[in-house]
Amino acid sequence: MSDRSPIDRREFVTACTLTLLAPLLGACASLATHPVPVQGGRVSLRLTEHPALAQPGGVLKILPSGAKDPLYVLALPAGSGGKAEGVREAFAVVSPICTHRGCTVDVQGPTLVCPCHGSTYDREGRVLRGPADRALERHAARVVEGVLEIDLRDVR
Ligand code: FES
Repeated sequence: MSDRSPIDRREFVTACTLTLLAPLLGACASLATHPVPVQGGRVSLRLTEHPALAQPGGVLKILPSGAKDPLYVLALPAGSGGKAEGVREAFAVVSPICTHRGCTVDVQGPTLVCPCHGSTYDREGRVLRGPADRALERHAARVVEGVLEIDLRDVR
């Protein structure tokens, strides 16, 4: 006869719940907010210190010091974010505040989705589906020698 005790119903339900929630909890953990210092109105992120941004579809949630709301730093797919003369913007830095009525949008793969009324934006903050009719606020950002420089004063 086995000396293992049978699992009771409560343990079974708990184990199943934790198993089902594990991927979701992992996703939440990856979107933990990273406080970052601001110097001269700019945030500087050394990319080697933020490996999430090296992933296709990578995202980092930052909270600049003194800011009320965080920002999403979103890696853009190759070929998107085109600028003049083939210069590619590798990242978009957008506010997570929905322009419809101010709910916080969630990053869902290639889109940002508002949980309140379903507005959907692309990773550069452009409206894909309303009711929002304005893009998310976006900050100017550029990569200089492996450092992503975000200009908090330059909002588009
Ligand atoms: Fe985002 Fe309404 S507040 S869709």
